[in-house]
Amino acid sequence: MSSRAGLCGRDLLAIDDLTSAELAYVLDRAAEAKSAWRLGERSAPLAGRAVAIVLQKPSLRTRISFEVACARLGAHPVVMTGPDGAFSRGESIADTARVMERYVDAIVLRTYEQSVLEGFASSASVPVVNALSDEHHPCQGLADLLTIKERFGTLSGLAFTFVGDGSNNMAHTYLLGGALCGMHVSVATPIGYQPDAKVLARARGLADASGGSVSVCTDAARAVSGASVVATDTWASMGQEGEHDDRADAFACYQVNEALMAYADSSAIFLHCLPAHRGEEVTDFVIDGRQSVVFDEAENRLHAQQALLELIIV
Ligand code: CP
Ligand code: NVA
Repeated sequence: MSSRAGLCGRDLLAIDDLTSAELAYVLDRAAEAKSAWRLGERSAPLAGRAVAIVLQKPSLRTRISFEVACARLGAHPVVMTGPDGAFSRGESIADTARVMERYVDAIVLRTYEQSVLEGFASSASVPVVNALSDEHHPCQGLADLLTIKERFGTLSGLAFTFVGDGSNNMAHTYLLGGALCGMHVSVATPIGYQPDAKVLARARGLADASGGSVSVCTDAARAVSGASVVATDTWASMGQEGEHDDRADAFACYQVNEALMAYADSSAIFLHCLPAHRGEEVTDFVIDGRQSVVFDEAENRLHAQQALLELIIV
C-alpha cells in the first residue's frame, strides 16, 4: 500500500466510504500518531494548511478534537458555529462549498441530513468529512474501533453489541464499521427503531465479505450475552429532543446497567460516544465502572481524526 493508502483527496461521509484495508490503515496510523505524540515527537505535516470546521449542531468532543488535531498537524482550524455560521444567509450548498474550497484544504461538517454532506462533497474539490449527521458518525466510529483494538489487539471476530436506538447515527456506524472489520455486530432496539434498511443491507454485504455478521433483535439481554464490547448512545439524538419522553418510555428496557452488563463476557468493555444521559441509557455504575473505556474513547477522537486529516489532505 502507498504511504497514504490512496486516501489523499478522499471524502469520509460514512465509515464504509473506506475499504476494510483503508480503515485498518487509518487505525494503525492513529495508533502510531498517538504513541509518537506521547514519546514527545512533534512534526507539522500540514503546516500552512487550513481546515474549515462547520458545526450546525452543538459539540464538545468533535470541536475540541478537530481543533487540537489541526494544531498538532500544523494546520489552521477555521471554526464556524451558531446562527452566524456558514449557512446563515440561505446561500446554496454548491455556492458555499465552492467558496470554501478556495480557502481551505478540507471541510469538516456536522449537520442534519446526509444529503447536505453529499452536496458539499459533490461541489467541493477538497475532502469533506462528516463530523456527525442524522445518519452517520464515522469519526466517532474510527475512535471507537481504535479504542476496541487497543484493548483486544484485534477487531475481527469480536462480538459487539449496541443497545439503544437502532436507527441512529451511532447504530448505523457500528453496523457498517463493525462489519467492515469482521466483527459480529448485534443491535438490540425496540420495534419502530430498527436500522435503516439500506444501511442494514450494506452492513450484511460487508459482513459477508469480512467473515463478520450482523443481527438486529429486540432482546437486549440476548444481544449482550457473551459480547466483548457493549455500546449505547442517547435515546434522543440532537434534533429529537421533543421526542424525549416518548423515547424514554420506548427504551426503558434498554438501559445498560449492572444487570445487563452481567450477560456480557467477563472481559467486556463498555463504550459510549458521549454525551451520556446518566440514569437513562446508562447507569453511573456502568459508566464509572471497571469495564468503561469512555474517556479513552473520547481521547481517541483526537488521534483518529489527526490521522484521517493527515491522510486525506492533498
Ligand atoms: N461524541 C461526540 O460527537 O461528541 P460531541 O457531540 O460533543 O462532539
Ligand atoms: N446519536 C447522538 C450522538 C451524539 C454524539 C446524536 O446524534 O445526538
